[in-house]
Amino acid sequence: SQQGRLIVVSNRIPTEAAPSGGLVVALHEALESRGGIWIGSSGQVVDEPGGLKTLADDKYTRLAFDLTKAEHEGFYLGYANSVLWPLFHHRADLIDVDQGDRDQYMGVNARVAQLIAEVIEPNDVLWIHDYHFLPLAAELRKLGLDNRMGYFLHIPFPNPSDIAALPDRKQLPHWIAAYDLIGLQTQRDVSACLEWLRGDTAAEFTLRGRMKLDTRHFEVRSFPIGIDVDAFRDAAERADITITDLPTNQKLILGVDRLDYSKGLPNRFEAFGKYLSMRDKNLPHATMIQVAPPSREDVEAYKDIRVQLESMAGSVNGEHAELDWTPIRYLRRPLPRDVVAGLYRRADVCLVTPLADGMNLVAKEYVAAQDGADPGVLILSHFAGAAEQLDGALMVNPYDTVSMAEAIDQALKMDLHERRARWLSMMQVIRETDIDWWTNSFLRSLQNQPQMRVA
Ligand code: G6P
Repeated sequence: SQQGRLIVVSNRIPTEAAPSGGLVVALHEALESRGGIWIGSSGQVVDEPGGLKTLADDKYTRLAFDLTKAEHEGFYLGYANSVLWPLFHHRADLIDVDQGDRDQYMGVNARVAQLIAEVIEPNDVLWIHDYHFLPLAAELRKLGLDNRMGYFLHIPFPNPSDIAALPDRKQLPHWIAAYDLIGLQTQRDVSACLEWLRGDTAAEFTLRGRMKLDTRHFEVRSFPIGIDVDAFRDAAERADITITDLPTNQKLILGVDRLDYSKGLPNRFEAFGKYLSMRDKNLPHATMIQVAPPSREDVEAYKDIRVQLESMAGSVNGEHAELDWTPIRYLRRPLPRDVVAGLYRRADVCLVTPLADGMNLVAKEYVAAQDGADPGVLILSHFAGAAEQLDGALMVNPYDTVSMAEAIDQALKMDLHERRARWLSMMQVIRETDIDWWTNSFLRSLQNQPQMRVA
């Protein structure tokens, strides 16, 4: 077609025929209606690098590449998850810089660019996702491709002062300028990015808030990612969760997070412990369920957070448990999505208290899952991207565990009138900026970027 196909690139690519999960579903639908290709890593580690393998070929095509062991270690565990992830989450203290890892990161990006060049056609539009592929457009431009290329960063933009710790601080502006449109989650991210571009790089502002660097024009804008609200509500209504030893009059506090140091889990456990110490002993018990599927377990910082959390859960439970009651139920594994949806609906309070987070879709899913006649309360860290949108939440500073304990108490005691008012205002926002809005507004904006080149 005139519009060209859509080519999506992301490190993870769905392997099931009908994928679940907000982002994956949205991209899947955009690709089904428009036609195109989704390229990502197969998740398989092989001895020799190969070409693209077709995973599925129906309304659109899914193509996957394998990583060698050295690539998996250097590109994924190394540079992406031991340098970019901590640095972009404001944890420069955790970065582990290794020249070999950096070479693998650049190597995978160059190799994926070659693979894309083999399948791309002149009118195709590329949409590249997340920190695994920052230099991908720059690699594609080196091959002479001048297709429209958009980028979406799902995680926070780093603090400009932290970028100084990045081995690629000199290349980063050129990686970014190779895209036509850079989508970030929040206004705060856009401000950080523009401050850095203006202060520390040779980029200049041009008309209508666009930027120019070298021979390229580009735009940086926020597109807060959303969810499929009705699909999630339906799943939550259908799911019938009974926790036999948790009577319906007992309050449930829920947390659902990947086991990651950015999620502020130790602070959350500490705050819950403080709440238990100060709580009114005449009120029924409040139990906390924390679901935390482990992730990136071969990275040292993830082993450390796991050990720390296990010890904290043990110490809070040791101090506050009774013969017939355990305050924290810590499940270090994933649960099926429909079970999570049911837990959200049953939970009186949801704790989303990261130290840094691009958006955090758990916050939006929890709101979508509530029964509007008797909704629960969202406690939200103001460091989550979602805090810019969800001002109906009880906002907390996760470093201040006493005030977090007070927020838990306030949430548990909140009257129906206030819970409903807060919930309604959040529902309105998550409906206005749902997942279709996100995909469509990004792609429309990418399509509308003037294709200007400086001679
Ligand atoms: C974050 C990132 C995604 C990533 C996901 C799971 O949401 O933004 O790009 O896929 O975490 O992490 P994993 O390393 O398991 O893919």
